Amino acid sequence: MRIAILGSGSLGSLYASLLSQVEGVELLIHGRGSHGAEMAAHGLHLEGMSTHFLSNEEVFFSLEEVGLPAHASGTIDFALLTGKAGQTTYLAELARQLLNDEGMALSLSNGLGHAEQCIEVLGPQRVFAATSTHGAWRPSPGVVHWAGKGKTVLGSLPGGPGETEAKPLLDVLLMAGLEPSWSSDGLATLWKKVLLNIAINPLAALAGVENGALLRPDLFSSAFSTMQEGAAIARIERVAIPDDVELEQQLRQVLTATATNICSMLQDIRAGRMTEISSLNQAIVLRGERAGIATPLNKMLVAMVNALHVG
Ligand code: PAF
Repeated sequence: MRIAILGSGSLGSLYASLLSQVEGVELLIHGRGSHGAEMAAHGLHLEGMSTHFLSNEEVFFSLEEVGLPAHASGTIDFALLTGKAGQTTYLAELARQLLNDEGMALSLSNGLGHAEQCIEVLGPQRVFAATSTHGAWRPSPGVVHWAGKGKTVLGSLPGGPGETEAKPLLDVLLMAGLEPSWSSDGLATLWKKVLLNIAINPLAALAGVENGALLRPDLFSSAFSTMQEGAAIARIERVAIPDDVELEQQLRQVLTATATNICSMLQDIRAGRMTEISSLNQAIVLRGERAGIATPLNKMLVAMVNALHVG
């Protein structure tokens, strides 16, 4: 099976490293910047929950600065988009070049809207909904730290491929230790992940703490209240999300499983990069305004995270 990992930051590098260890998987790993260059020149080190070294002789590392290798066009079975939410349309265009006629794609970005952007570029028949709660960060270029074992969920979207089409990829993800499962309601899957991210990411980023610190009762209560605001919007949009008791359990479980992770928003802020706040809490605020529902906690978190950039 030929898999392309497009946008190999922390999460993409984790998936690349684990998938490279599955027999029969051929990988194209597309990265950029100093991390991409280091991988292409010297390979990729995995540390944390598991250790591995992926040499640049075992897989093909391509670089954004150089472009996709022409020989890979039309050869890929599955494209995994693992970049930031803001890169989705661009990465979906790369997937379009790489996928073979039956090839399919999924986006593991945080936030609302990325699956729709993939569909716009690739068509609904080629796109799965997908989420990941694995925690990963990059201590230095060429190194990825697996900080928390999470889950990978693939799901179907209206007009999209189903479990039968996803099965070969689900099998490979299982062998890679990425804990996959299938959801018949991909939209609910995406929302459940968004609710976790709006609760965890801005608070951990603003407080400058690892995810586990949000288990402290005062921070947990703020995180859960932020999540409840988002849940109200999901319910008004008739998305089949769990009740509050289950949402609270899921939040606690992800915080516990990724306790030592530096969440992606804190990584972005520390690296001076744009955050994903506009696809997360800002998207909740906008949908709330449309529905006439106030989301004051989300609004405040958006303002504070944005102020970090302006300042
Ligand atoms: O964005 C992140 O960092 C991750 O989605 C998660 C699951 C919150 C772990 O840190």
